[in-house]
Amino acid sequence: MSGKNYKNLSLKKLAKQVIGLDEEVVLLDGSKRKYINFDNAASTPALLPVQKKVGEFLKWYSNVHRGTGFKSQLSSWVFEEARNIIADFVKADEHCCVIFCKNTTEAINKLSSRFQCPALGKEKPIVLTTLQEHHSNELPWRKVAQVIHVGLNPDGTIDKNDYHEKLKKYAGKIQLVAVSGASNVTGYINPIHEFARMAHEVGAQIAVDAAQLAPHRPIDMKPRNDPEHIDYLSFSAHKMYAPYGIGVLVGDRSAFLYGTPDDVGGGTADIVDLESAYWKDLPEREEAGTPDIIGVVALAEAIRLIQKVGFDQIIKHETALTAYALKKLNKIPEVIIYGDRDPRNAHNRLGVIAFNIKGMHHALVSAILSYEGGIGVRNGCFCAHPYVKCLLGVTPEEAKRIEQMIINRDRSEVPGAVRISFGIYNTKKEIDLLIEMLQKIIKKEYRGKYVLDKERGEYYPEGFEFKFKDFFDFD
Ligand code: ALA
Repeated sequence: MSGKNYKNLSLKKLAKQVIGLDEEVVLLDGSKRKYINFDNAASTPALLPVQKKVGEFLKWYSNVHRGTGFKSQLSSWVFEEARNIIADFVKADEHCCVIFCKNTTEAINKLSSRFQCPALGKEKPIVLTTLQEHHSNELPWRKVAQVIHVGLNPDGTIDKNDYHEKLKKYAGKIQLVAVSGASNVTGYINPIHEFARMAHEVGAQIAVDAAQLAPHRPIDMKPRNDPEHIDYLSFSAHKMYAPYGIGVLVGDRSAFLYGTPDDVGGGTADIVDLESAYWKDLPEREEAGTPDIIGVVALAEAIRLIQKVGFDQIIKHETALTAYALKKLNKIPEVIIYGDRDPRNAHNRLGVIAFNIKGMHHALVSAILSYEGGIGVRNGCFCAHPYVKCLLGVTPEEAKRIEQMIINRDRSEVPGAVRISFGIYNTKKEIDLLIEMLQKIIKKEYRGKYVLDKERGEYYPEGFEFKFKDFFDFD
């Protein structure tokens, strides 16, 4: 599929270009089955046109911003073109810069490093975040700020009244609101522009963790003079069909113009003496060392493909899958869904559904799905422990008891759920196969004898091991 063919690119056509869709995996009984990937919220597979674009570029590959050779200059040009594609994708205005990082987590850490720890005795700035966050939008803030949490409604959405109250209570002290664009657990999409307006009213900025949102919904950071603009945004290429190792931080240039960059070294300084260093302009000063140029090319191409297909098609497809899955899951009395279970609301959320089967360990359910159904899901707390504990209703006493067990290397009672998450290429037929497997699991019609590895908190079928070497080898 060359660039010229992108003109009438349908989602159906693009979905067929996802690498590895026809790969079969081995099951416990020795048979093989086409793999079903319902773990797109963790990482999506790659797109063939992305791989091809990387291949096309590789013959021109050279380091950027350093050499005078043709290849080096071409690589630098490609790198900056990609930066523009990314800025356009999120409608970043001229006040923003696009900084390449390795993923969303690194991007948020980088942003947090701009909030220098105050001198001893001085009060730390306040970062207002929520109980819904992934750890990547929680732990980096703890290092540098006093973190205050906005609570949740009983359905797991962010409590807007509490947000309003906390903004009022800490007005003038809150430096930043840090919130996810969409939840990696319940798929809820947050009203980021409303949150932005309210944050700006009390003089705070807003940073949106868009790791989950960016692959599924259009993002408009809006111009800085719009009260609803987003000050900082981060997302990862590996969730956008371009798993070549990059993420981005897009944001207010002024935050990065002072002081010493968080990482320093090659490419960051204009002039260095034994006692001094003068930092380069943005974005170079924030991109220490040789960047992942291949990753940048891959992300830019994935974005171009997403834009050609258009979010309307993506939303329509993923909404249909989500509604279908919810309808089917709702019909199984043993299934507990966390968050909104109403298929009629599927257009207002992402295709991310967390659930449990009553009386069964989430790790056992996902092991059976894998070993006997060839279905890839994720289970546990999805790096959002506080949120999942709230959704599950784990009491603080229970949480403390389990925490102690985990410290003692026993993960057998880790709370959690099973999560399925859809991408552009998943089908209703795959959902049917999942439902069939869940029915079997509920009826205890699975074959394996599963044993819990307490230290890992994972179940394995006795007497069976995947032989990965049959599928991939370095030889
Ligand atoms: N944050 C990713 C997930 O939710 C890895 O699975």
